[in-house]
Amino acid sequence: MKRISDSGYWIAHQAGTDSGKALVMDRIRITGGNELNGVIPISGAKNAALPLMIAALLTSETLTLENVPHLADVEQLIRILGNHGVDYSVNGRRRSQGKGYSRTIHFTAGNIVDTTAPYELVSRMRASFWVIGPLVARMGTAKVSLPGGCAIGTRPVDLFIDGLRALGAEIDIESGYVTANAKAGLRGARFVFPKVSVGATHVLMMAASLARGETVLENAAREPEVVNLADCLNAMGAKISGAGSPTITIEGVEKLGGAQIEVIPDRIETGTYAMAVAMTGGDVLLEGARADLLHAALGKIAEAGAEITETDTGIRVRRNGNGIRPVDVVTEPYPGFPTDLQAQFMALMTRANGDSHITETIFENRFMHVQELARLGAEISLSGQTATVHGVDELEGAQVMATDLRASVSLVIAGLAAKGVTEVNRVYHLDRGFERLEEKLTGCGAMIERVSD
Ligand code: UD1
Repeated sequence: MKRISDSGYWIAHQAGTDSGKALVMDRIRITGGNELNGVIPISGAKNAALPLMIAALLTSETLTLENVPHLADVEQLIRILGNHGVDYSVNGRRRSQGKGYSRTIHFTAGNIVDTTAPYELVSRMRASFWVIGPLVARMGTAKVSLPGGCAIGTRPVDLFIDGLRALGAEIDIESGYVTANAKAGLRGARFVFPKVSVGATHVLMMAASLARGETVLENAAREPEVVNLADCLNAMGAKISGAGSPTITIEGVEKLGGAQIEVIPDRIETGTYAMAVAMTGGDVLLEGARADLLHAALGKIAEAGAEITETDTGIRVRRNGNGIRPVDVVTEPYPGFPTDLQAQFMALMTRANGDSHITETIFENRFMHVQELARLGAEISLSGQTATVHGVDELEGAQVMATDLRASVSLVIAGLAAKGVTEVNRVYHLDRGFERLEEKLTGCGAMIERVSD
C-alpha cells in the first residue's frame, strides 16, 4: 500500500500509457459509516482556472492568477500552454487560508511560438480546445485538434465554429483539426447561441476582446466562471459588460495587458462536500465557499434535510439525526441546478425516505454512475433522461469503477455512507478535479485512503 506524492497527479492522469499504468490502478478505499465533522477548505474552481489560464495567450504581458488549484487538469493545461510558448512560475499559497493548497501562478505569453494545439494534448482535456479563441484573435491563425469523444456524450464544437465564423474567421476542418484564419483580424458581430455553452461563451468573449468593433453575444452562458473570466479580461484592458446575464457586450480593443486576478472558489467542490455531509450526517464548515455561487444546489440540499447557514468564513452544513427527504432535480444551465452535481445528488438520494426523480438536460449520456451505485445496493431505474431513485435504508460497500470526474466522486459520497468497505477504482478521474480529496475528508473523520497494489 502506498500513498501517491504530488507528482503522481500527472502520471496518474496518463491512463493507458506505460508510465501511467501503475498509478492508474490506484484506488480509493473507504470504510463507510462515520459522520463528517470539522472544516473543509474549498479550493479555487477548476472550471474558472482553466479559461483564466487560457486568457494568458491574449497578451505578451504577465497574467497572475491567485488561488489556482493543484489538479491534473491544471498541470495538463500548463503543458499545453507551454507548447504555445507560455512561460510560468509558481509562488505562494492562498493568502486567506492557511489550510488551502492553491497557488499563485504567473503566466507570460511573451511570444507565441506555435499556433497548433496537437491531438496528443487536446484529446486529454476538452477545455484545451478553447485556445483556438485567443490564438486566432492575437495571431490571426490557429490550428487545434478536435477534442474527440467523451464518456459523457458527443460534445460537439459547432457553436465555437459558428461563433468564430460570425467574428470573421475562416474555418476549415480537415484530418481531425479545426483551422481558424483571420489574417486581417477579427471583427465584432452579433451572435446568438442556439444553445447555452459555457466553453463557447468563454472562447467568443476572449476572441471578441481583440476584434475590431462591438460584439454582442446573446443567450450566453451565465455561469460564475464566465463572470470570473470577464473580470479578468477587463482587468487586462478589455471592455466587456453584461457577463452573468444572457447578453454580453464586448467592445474590441487593440491590445490587452497584464493583470492579477483571483480564481473564484469551486462551487462544484462546495456542493459535493455539502452533499457528503447531508449523506453521512455531521457538522462541517466549508471554508472559503460562497453560497451565492450555488443557490439552486444548496436549496435542494436543504430540502433534502440538511441545515445550511452562511457564515463569515464560508458555508456551514449540518444534518443531525433526521432522515434524508426525497427531492426531484432537473439539471439546467446556471443559475439552475448544475449538471456537475447531478451524480452526487443521485448518490444522496439513494438513501432518501422515498422516491426521487433526477432529470439530466445538459449531457445526453451522463448516467454512467447509475450502474455503479447499483453495485452498492442503490435502486435506480432509468427512463430516457430521467432517473427514478428509490431510497433504501442501507448501502453496502463494494468494488466500483469511476467513469468520469463527477461520477467518481458520487461513488465516494455513497461509499462514505455505505456499510463496510467500498473501493473506487480508476481514481485518476478524481485527480482531475478534486484537490486532496482524501486529506480533506479524513480531516473530518472519514475513513478514506488511497491504495495501490
Ligand atoms: C463546461 C464545464 C463542465 C460542465 C459544462 C456544463 C469546464 C472546463 N467544463 O463544459 O464541467 O459540465 O460546462 O455546465 O468549464 N454543445 C454543443 N456544441 C458546442 C458546444 C457545446 O452542442 O459547440 C453542447 C454540449 O454537448 C452540451 C451543452 O452544449 O450538451 C453544454 O456544454 P458546454 O456548456 O459547452 O460544456 P463545456 O463548456 O464543455
